[in-house]
Amino acid sequence: MYGPLILLAALLPFTSAQLDAYAKKAGLKYFGAATDSPGQRERAGLEASYEQYDAILRDGNEFGSTTPTNGQKWLFTEPEQGVFNFTEGDIVTSIAQEQGLIQRCHALVWHSQLAPWVEAASADWTPETLSAVIVAHVTNVMEHYRGRCYAWDVVNEALDEDGGYCDSIFYRVLGADFIKLAFRTAAVVEPGVKLYYNYYNIEKPSPKSDGVLRIVRMLQEDGIKIDGVGFQGHFVASRPPTLDEQIAAIDAYGALGVEVAYTELDVRQTTPVNETSLEWQANAYADAVGACVQAKACIGVTIWDFYDPFSWVPYTFPGEDAALLWFEDFAKHPAYDAIIDALKNGTASPCKRKKRRRAQMAARRAKLQ
Ligand code: XIL
Repeated sequence: MYGPLILLAALLPFTSAQLDAYAKKAGLKYFGAATDSPGQRERAGLEASYEQYDAILRDGNEFGSTTPTNGQKWLFTEPEQGVFNFTEGDIVTSIAQEQGLIQRCHALVWHSQLAPWVEAASADWTPETLSAVIVAHVTNVMEHYRGRCYAWDVVNEALDEDGGYCDSIFYRVLGADFIKLAFRTAAVVEPGVKLYYNYYNIEKPSPKSDGVLRIVRMLQEDGIKIDGVGFQGHFVASRPPTLDEQIAAIDAYGALGVEVAYTELDVRQTTPVNETSLEWQANAYADAVGACVQAKACIGVTIWDFYDPFSWVPYTFPGEDAALLWFEDFAKHPAYDAIIDALKNGTASPCKRKKRRRAQMAARRAKLQ
């Protein structure tokens, strides 16, 4: 008598498309979504708990990896010198542990969301004292999360658009040596974890992506371990990099022997969104994921949260929004299916995609009326 029910239960995981399941079939390690801790959401004026959100986050076929969007950053992990706090980061880490998700850990040395004491004029760092600060931070944070990260973003965003180093307390005091120090320290603390350099606007060949290639070579020439380059992938629906540009960029890093992952993918659109901008967005997502499937060095994709109300986009880019895959009412963006197509085919099939998207838009319009 339970036969049909058991059959239905067995089929359920395949009744709706699931990103991680298809990513694995396509040969990637994971399709993941970053998430914030409820405390962080409350600080942003949002409710702390969303049952439907948690169900999607914890659907192992949907996401095989997660990243704390904020909790592991310096501002939260070492708010005062020598005082470590892992509360926020641990919330996301426990979800990863409970669900058996891969965790990408983010970010150890970054000039943004840095604890104010590091930048205080009164600190008056010398190369020696600031080096000790970096070593202590990297060591303590990595030791706390030892064994729980697949990868660490060791250094985040160290260059300007022209490929030169950007101004930061780290660069001012130590020059490019701060990058070497951070990676060298990380490799000692946890030799088995993948060490990444992470940045945006390096997803196509450009002076800035050349700058990142230079950093990879600089570390390699000094015998310092670097395993990967993170493509943040914060794209704009109307002007994303093309599939071929992204494949070329991934291949350039691959040629140096490092892996690549999309670490913070989102595709923002001008509000109010319309059919055209949703179409652009779907294409942009499909091209990024398709490039990752096609280029050998790319191992996985993480989107920077998955639910529009939790995106950083409207706070950072006024007038832009709807950058993720689930609308506020939990309906999926057309980009979701475009990604599944890209995972199936290495790229989306434009005809199929157009037809399905039209049907989705019609359904959405009907729902909103
Ligand atoms: C963003 C978070 O999503 C926001 O909540 C926070 O206010 C600012 O930082 N590049 C990165 C991420 O490496 O850490 C940033 O995350 C987005 C840009």
